[in-house]
Amino acid sequence: NLNEIRIAIDGPASSGKSTVAKIIAKDFDIIYLDTGAMYRAATYVALSNDLDDDFAQIIAILKENPISFGTSSEGQLVYVGEVDVTHAIRQNDVTNAVSKISAIPEIREYLVDAQREIASHGGIVMDGRDIGTVVLPDAELKIFLVASVEERAERRYKENLAKGIETDYEQLKFEIAERDRKDSTREVSPLKQADDAILIDTTGMSIAAVVSKIESFVKKF
Ligand code: CDP
Ligand code: CDP
Repeated sequence: NLNEIRIAIDGPASSGKSTVAKIIAKDFDIIYLDTGAMYRAATYVALSNDLDDDFAQIIAILKENPISFGTSSEGQLVYVGEVDVTHAIRQNDVTNAVSKISAIPEIREYLVDAQREIASHGGIVMDGRDIGTVVLPDAELKIFLVASVEERAERRYKENLAKGIETDYEQLKFEIAERDRKDSTREVSPLKQADDAILIDTTGMSIAAVVSKIESFVKKF
């Protein structure tokens, strides 16, 4: 029963998690939860309040101003309290600080509780780094997406170009590799494939091909 299925999609930056998760959610009419956006929102709170890694303050602000999601014609909206942070959380300052904030155990504990609460009724596809290993260790379907660093930098380069932003490919490659390293080597909930996750190397694969591969597993439920 797809109303009860919980699908975990993990993998490194730009492996295609959010793109395919959104399509799967739509195709099966289930909820999509972008957990990366929640870590980005916590990082936005830290930066905009000059809090550095003061987790107690960051959590206090998040309790007063909970993270929530909405939809618009342009896609998913992210809020911290009443403030629309959809665009702010994708800016470079947040992207470059997010690995540091998401390595704080207390921040993770707070956000993981919120994620489990949202997933408790099932009918959900979640993407992140630790969904299959920590957040939903008993998820019905676990997918681990990877792609070469070069391909992922290329994807981000094209994505930026489509928005009219010219970025340096080598710089992108460096930033992605650096985030991989920080996310994989951190003490708490590092990026790691769950033993029972299905590995898909998406290097050279189209979005449609990745989606159809994952959906073939979903249809077995
Ligand atoms: O989309 P992109 O791959 O750039 O990153 P994201 O999914 O928006 O996640 C941003 C950052 O949040 C990651 O680099 C991780 O440091 C952190 N994150 C995490 O620690 N655990 C998750 N479940 C999701 C994201
Ligand atoms: O969420 P995550 O950071 O894992 O990646 P994403 O934001 O879904 O995907 C990064 C970029 O790669 C997007 O511009 C996608 O359109 C693109 N992509 C692709 O070209 N081919 C794929 N098989 C998957 C994603």
